[in-house]
Amino acid sequence: MVAGNWKMNTTIPDGVALARAVLERCGAEGTVDVAVLPPFVHLWPVREVLAASSILLGAQDVFWEEGGAYTGEISPPMLAGWCDLVLVGHSERRHLFGETDAQTAHKFAAARRHGLMVILAVGETETERDEGRTVPVVDRQLEAVLAEIDAPPPADEWVIAYEPVWAIGTGRTASPAQAEEVCAHIRAAVSARAGESPRVLYGGSVTADNAAELFSRAGIDGGLIGGASLKPELFADIVAAAALAALAR
Ligand code: PGA
Repeated sequence: MVAGNWKMNTTIPDGVALARAVLERCGAEGTVDVAVLPPFVHLWPVREVLAASSILLGAQDVFWEEGGAYTGEISPPMLAGWCDLVLVGHSERRHLFGETDAQTAHKFAAARRHGLMVILAVGETETERDEGRTVPVVDRQLEAVLAEIDAPPPADEWVIAYEPVWAIGTGRTASPAQAEEVCAHIRAAVSARAGESPRVLYGGSVTADNAAELFSRAGIDGGLIGGASLKPELFADIVAAAALAALAR
């Protein structure tokens, strides 16, 4: 899977144009699941652009309540049935907006109750890595979610994105070996807990230049792409790298 997280970028017309460009370049992709995650207000027009394609449509966040007096929030029933997936636990939600593991877990569970596929993002800060705490931090973030839900979703209905916080938007990609090591740990930990692991993506400064090497590593099943997802030609190159890596497996 290659998922493009547009974050808080593009106006609606620019976002629709970006979706058209992604459709043109990636619409015929048959090996890799391609997803775009535009801002909330773009979701409906982007859905119309992607309607006849297999490109998945995702939201960047969701609130855990069904409805009510929660000014500014978007609930799972508002997305279910026409959005394919939702991202929860992105490091910008955790670190810029103070979201806790418990809140991320509520969001995950609420999205699943409404049948949405979920991409759960986990990852350590630079300090946590320097202190040798990458594995405990990632384990804690995963466990918060697994403890909240009665049973883990089927492996094809959720995805884990390992995104070291220090690599996001910084141009400092984790080395393929670093990414592989943590992705392998996640896979083993979730398999031990849930029976089978969903796909595990790497995210953090993935570019058209480093994607092939990252995706060639065993246990890295694709990428969650920020900056490069805003450039359709780069995003398409990253999708092509994932397709080649999938064929080589
Ligand atoms: P980046 O963002 O590719 O710009 O580093 C990745 C992400 O935040 O998902």
